[in-house]
Amino acid sequence: MTSRAARAGVTALGAYAPPKVITNSDLEKVLDTSDEWIRTRTGIRKRHVAADNEFTSDLAVRSVEDLVARHGEGALDGVEFVIVATNTPDALFPATAALVQDHFGLKAGAFDLLAACPGWIYALSVAKAYVESGQYRKVLTIGAEALTKVLDWEDRSTAVLFGDGAGASVVEAVPEPYGLKSIVLGVDGGGAHHLHKRATGCCLPNGEPLSDTLYMNGREVFKFAVRVMHTSTVEAVEKAELSNSDISLLVPHQANSRIIEAARELLGLSQERVVVTVDEYGNNSTASIPLALKHALDEGRVEAGDHLLLVSFGAGLTWGASVLTWGGA
Ligand code: ACO
Repeated sequence: MTSRAARAGVTALGAYAPPKVITNSDLEKVLDTSDEWIRTRTGIRKRHVAADNEFTSDLAVRSVEDLVARHGEGALDGVEFVIVATNTPDALFPATAALVQDHFGLKAGAFDLLAACPGWIYALSVAKAYVESGQYRKVLTIGAEALTKVLDWEDRSTAVLFGDGAGASVVEAVPEPYGLKSIVLGVDGGGAHHLHKRATGCCLPNGEPLSDTLYMNGREVFKFAVRVMHTSTVEAVEKAELSNSDISLLVPHQANSRIIEAARELLGLSQERVVVTVDEYGNNSTASIPLALKHALDEGRVEAGDHLLLVSFGAGLTWGASVLTWGGA
């Protein structure tokens, strides 16, 4: 008789946000905007911003340092692979993950993963496949973002929304009943023109020029987000063979409190069962879920055995959702 391969789970977590903070009232002084508009339309009060000499690899390293501080020196022992999910790598090449590997002297393979804001969930899915197939036993999965470096600070429709940060996790085999119970990933490249930033190309397939700074059609992304936050979470819960009432905590991408509220209502969850940190950080893309999860852990809102529902959406247009049963370290 063959036994089922061990399930992968998250056994350690750390996160970091740079100390520099820009408040809504700071933005009022330089943009035609108001604290009231930003708060009521997005829920954001402030955002953490990387220093001029601080880049995505630095934020990633800090988040791993936090993980080690929380889980002990041995937390990185035996890491065999490093994935950095990011939209803002230090360089097109080498991978930011290579810089992290070198910083910690890990004997590991490494690559960057680009799937917009759900990148950390995509990274978890790759790590899960590596671990459950037996290819690698321990994977460091990071979401790190210096989005404020690619914003047009004169465009009020995007400049007020984003912040910087990083989150790191260790994925390895965990005993029953813990681990990543389901993963749902998707993309609709037909929506690529709604959210983009140029790298080496000139245009999108529809001929639209790529933007040199982050471009977003907020209204279209909003509608898409509300839809996929619901459909992907329903699918993730079903795949995990659970029901909504089993979910202890929804840990959503922190882009807009109205989007989170719509997802919460559609899932029929009470407000205490949702983590909201968008007021503190704004949208820091791949870092937002691990940062939110760290807050929930620090507030004592997560216990071993809790079913956490993670969900995110972003450029692509992409989405990702997962049920993670916490614990097993
Ligand atoms: N301050 C004041 N007014 C503003 C601002 C601002 N910062 N930004 C826009 N406005 C104005 C607009 O010009 C518009 O004015 P008009 O009616 O005279 O034309 C008005 O406010 C309303 O604009 P809308 O775009 O309709 O505002 P909406 O309520 O949709 O909120 C927002 C805009 C916050 C961007 C919302 O659409 C949203 O959150 N969208 C989703 C964004 C998102 O979640 N992105 C995540 C993916 S990011 C990634 O993958 C990197």
